[in-house]
Amino acid sequence: MHQLFATRAARMKASEIRELLKLLDQPGIISFAGGIPDPALFPAEAFGQAFQQALGADSRAQALQYSVSEGYMPLREWIAGHMRQIGVDCGPDDVLITSGSQQALDYLGKLFLSPGDTALVGWPTYLGALAAFNAYEPRFDRLRAGGNAGAAQYRAAAGPGAVKYAYLSPDFANPTGETVDRQGREALLDLAEELDCALIEDGAYQALRYDGQAIPPILALELARKGDLQACRTIYCGSFSKTLSPGLRVGWVVAARPVIAQLVLMKQAADLHSATINQMAVHQVAQTCFDSHIPKVRATYRARRDAMLAALERHMPEGVHWTRPEGGMFIWLTLPPGADGAQLLARALETVKVAFVPGQAFHPDGSGANTIRLSFSNSDEATIAEGIARLGAVLRG
Ligand SMILES: Cc1ncc(COP(=O)(O)O)c(C=O)c1O
Repeated sequence: MHQLFATRAARMKASEIRELLKLLDQPGIISFAGGIPDPALFPAEAFGQAFQQALGADSRAQALQYSVSEGYMPLREWIAGHMRQIGVDCGPDDVLITSGSQQALDYLGKLFLSPGDTALVGWPTYLGALAAFNAYEPRFDRLRAGGNAGAAQYRAAAGPGAVKYAYLSPDFANPTGETVDRQGREALLDLAEELDCALIEDGAYQALRYDGQAIPPILALELARKGDLQACRTIYCGSFSKTLSPGLRVGWVVAARPVIAQLVLMKQAADLHSATINQMAVHQVAQTCFDSHIPKVRATYRARRDAMLAALERHMPEGVHWTRPEGGMFIWLTLPPGADGAQLLARALETVKVAFVPGQAFHPDGSGANTIRLSFSNSDEATIAEGIARLGAVLRG
């Protein structure tokens, strides 16, 4: 059968890492692998009430019915208000609801990339973005935020294909935890102008800042330059996955109308719309408790980040370096040159039952063998201290 598959299928491969991570189900494993929220933080009671309300006599017909591809209007209104709060002046018609921001990444790959076109991405970058874009058979080139590669260099490397967009997560990126400062964001906008390409801003972790000053989204900076969302080339992807719940699969896109209109057509063709009842429940919960819930999420993850940073300081041997994120869920470790993150994972799982994700998978060119990603979001402080102590012992031994 596989000879019948389209050429794009050959680019979609299950990774060996996934096989290794299946071992996570073993009892006693301390896992810093999955970048997932702590389920104890889900506002479960509020969701219970919201679903009950959606299924009440007044709204059940709507909740269980087909709905419009653009998304549930009250939720789009709430999101437009939220975006205005973070500096992006927009209205509900500028918002499309997607099934998680992952769906937006897939649609954006589908919208922009013909085979051989170039997508600029960080090295490393979010694995799910690489997987989504990869299906459209692009060439990846390395986006150096704040670096000195100029438009001409990117264009020359692109060859006959065009540079279609740059993708990045400017706040507390997955996998590095790093943030692009304001100057870096402005420089990216300059680069996108020079290249005449789109900019995909992945705001999945935007709300999870634990310290330091918030930096306006790239879309807000572009809006400040141009004064009109319809003139902007930045496409903002947001998500409720890291703040309220990933299982309901509710995310959004804010962009200029022609982009939104095209994405709506794609959504119609792909899945008609995101689950109506989930959108209604997310709207209800966002409206009633987003502002009181987020500080709890931040406080919990801040303490875990601090615990992991303190444990790394204590237990990591000489020659290991790591990022100090101001938010998000991840710390990125660079091991001494020649070290291999995948081998370390195999050893750590077998000898001390500690899991993490080796960094190579986040690099489209297969580099980064001596890097690893640690997630602190789903373990309490004591478990983090124990896991990092064990990992330090393996690295030393
Ligand atoms: C940077 C980034 N973008 C997007 C996503 C996808 O999130 P969702 O589809 O749940 O909104 C993730 C999930 O881990 C992520 O880390």
